[in-house]
Amino acid sequence: MTSPHPVKVVAVTGGKGGVGKTNVSVNLSLALGRLVAGLC
Ligand SMILES: Nc1ncnc2c1ncn2[C@@H]1O[C@H](COP(=O)(O)OP(=O)(O)OP(=O)(O)O)[C@@H](O)[C@H]1O
Ligand SMILES: [Mg+2]
Repeated sequence: MTSPHPVKVVAVTGGKGGVGKTNVSVNLSLALGRLVAGLC
């Protein structure tokens, strides 16, 4: 299966136990989404 868009993967890793992985992931996703949409 091929995609017209290259697949990009960003890994957010770190230790278990509330070091901020989810926080970074959500905010990075929102920021990249806004960037791609030309909103910033
Ligand atoms: N940059 C930050 N400044 C202040 N507080 C933060 C920051 N990043 C995360 N926190 C707080 O730390 C706590 C844990 O954050 P988060 O849930 O993102 O960690 P996690 O690495 O995903 O944890 P888990 O391994 O349990 O999934 C939350 O209460 C969050 O509000
Ligand atoms: Mg988490």
